[in-house]
Amino acid sequence: MKKIIIAIDGYSACGKSSTAKQVASKLNYRYVDTGAMYRAVTLYFMENYIDKTNPKSVEKALDKIEITFHHNEHTGQSETYLNGLNVEKRIREMEISQNVSEVSAIKAVRIDLVKQQQKMGRSKGLVMDGRDIGSVVFPEAELKIFMTADFDVRAERRQKELFDKDQLVDLDDVKANLKQRDTIDTTRAESPLTRPEDSVEIDTTHMFFEEQVDRIVQLADSRAIKK
Ligand code: DC
Repeated sequence: MKKIIIAIDGYSACGKSSTAKQVASKLNYRYVDTGAMYRAVTLYFMENYIDKTNPKSVEKALDKIEITFHHNEHTGQSETYLNGLNVEKRIREMEISQNVSEVSAIKAVRIDLVKQQQKMGRSKGLVMDGRDIGSVVFPEAELKIFMTADFDVRAERRQKELFDKDQLVDLDDVKANLKQRDTIDTTRAESPLTRPEDSVEIDTTHMFFEEQVDRIVQLADSRAIKK
């Protein structure tokens, strides 16, 4: 069967990453979490006090950033590295979540990361999740998924995810952060989150995890046969 590109977009915390990871594992595809890339850039900007409003400082900083993914044999998961350091845990912290939408709205940041993401897709057999994968990174992707879920369900899921990583965060704080990110992600000038017309919408509010994975795998199988 021919390998394809699967683009998964949607709001924060509607289950994109965990679903995408499992779909990739079932299909024996590579998985790329583009949110992790924007988070890693945000971490670098914060640790190095980069002035986000100064285009020269932003360009200079981007030249110094190398983001890679490595497989962790113990957890079986892909983990994010920033300039050779494992930052997987750090980039999921609330402090990063509170600043990432602002950093990902910067044009130069998007141009730089989109270029890297497009390179990763050259050999197909890829599941990539984010906000602009079907619309900007791979407008020609064979399968585009747009994931949604009710706001309260998303907030509860994100709080549990943080709790599982030993981060106790108040539900109201999680909701405030999601609301702020939804607003910036959908209204920014540079590639805002939109639902591509040719995408399949999957509302996960009342779905079991395995159900949403199986649905995407079935769609992928039928698209891979057609191509
Ligand atoms: O998927 P996530 O919540 O880890 O993403 C973190 C932020 O990165 C999100 O608020 C918006 C931004 N992002 C983006 O602008 N474009 C992408 N392709 C992926 C993420």
